[in-house]
Amino acid sequence: MAHYTLCLIGFGNVGQALVRLLAAKRGELRDRYGIEWTLTGVMTRRLGFHHDPAGLDPFTLGAATMPAQSPDVAAVQAWLRAARADVLFDTSSLNAETGEPAIAYMRAALELGVHAITANKGPIVHAYRQLRDLAQARGAQFRFEATVMGGTPIFSLFRHALPAITVQGFRGILNSTTNLILAEMEAGKSFEDGVRAAQEAGLAETDSSADVDGWDATVKVAALVQVVMDMPIHLGDIERAGIRDLHPEEVRAARAAGTPYKLVSSARRHDGGVLASVRPERVAAGDPLAEVRGVDALVRFDTDVLSGLSVGEHGGTPTTTAYGMLADFIEVVSTVR
Ligand SMILES: NC(=O)c1ccc[n+]([C@@H]2O[C@H](COP(=O)([O-])OP(=O)(O)OC[C@H]3O[C@@H](n4cnc5c(N)ncnc54)[C@H](OP(=O)(O)O)[C@@H]3O)[C@@H](O)[C@H]2O)c1
Repeated sequence: MAHYTLCLIGFGNVGQALVRLLAAKRGELRDRYGIEWTLTGVMTRRLGFHHDPAGLDPFTLGAATMPAQSPDVAAVQAWLRAARADVLFDTSSLNAETGEPAIAYMRAALELGVHAITANKGPIVHAYRQLRDLAQARGAQFRFEATVMGGTPIFSLFRHALPAITVQGFRGILNSTTNLILAEMEAGKSFEDGVRAAQEAGLAETDSSADVDGWDATVKVAALVQVVMDMPIHLGDIERAGIRDLHPEEVRAARAAGTPYKLVSSARRHDGGVLASVRPERVAAGDPLAEVRGVDALVRFDTDVLSGLSVGEHGGTPTTTAYGMLADFIEVVSTVR
């Protein structure tokens, strides 16, 4: 039996779902994988740093032991040391512009040889290569399965099941909020009503612009290009258009004609680089993307050997995202044992 001490940054939807899932799977982790765990550290902006090497319950935390407004690497490392962390889970909010401070959190852990598992796309989009190389240099693992399509395996699929394959490109629907808004517009609602429906379904945030204007999908495209295609790309290199300017009449007419509008994310190799875009497109009748509804997601990869490999997610939730982190945890500790 191997015992691991875990630290958690962020305790919102995904952080809480992760703690619940770890608890629900405790017996299975022990019996099937020989893994025991104790949560010894929690940190969020408002809760600050908490640690107890004997274990703590994040649902009953008291006042912060140390403020965490803008924690630096040294403060995070002091906390990880005090909590005797083996693994750090990062479920902090995305800063799409810089990826910080999540990049600093990942660096703090990896420099200490602590495995780092994140659901936050910022570190992948802005610092994937540096963090991957740092992990390798320190004998630690850096994992991020939950960042794109939650618990649905994409990165581990390519890492383990598809050796020696080159991804030429991909095309898919990666943002469920816009998919739901378009479906509402097809059903006769206005754009604003569609946004409200997505908010009521717990998908869109109060400020829905990250989804509606294509930023969320653009960040996911950047993550897939960097990891799965192994090509560097900046967010500014990705052509981006959202669904804000689509007229409901246009959206309804397109669906009636059997060629509905979808916010399509795509990338392909071109001239030694990558051409990538996120934009509303009318998809052809018979295209599997035409049938992706509501909160589902689908992406088709084209590779040098397999001409089409589709990966789909039906109904993503914080728990499915947390599952991506749990799967990373089991893989990481099984790899290093
Ligand atoms: N929700 C999903 O299904 C899903 C799917 C895929 C990926 N993700 C990614 O997973 C992450 C978490 O999502 P969520 O839905 O759980 O968000 P959330 O409910 O808003 O929770 C975010 C948590 O992060 C903490 N936090 C924010 N900024 C921080 C900082 N600078 N330092 C430390 N803690 C910080 C917040 O703490 P305070 O409350 O103290 O501010 C809060 O506890 C995001 O990066 C998101 O993009 C989510």
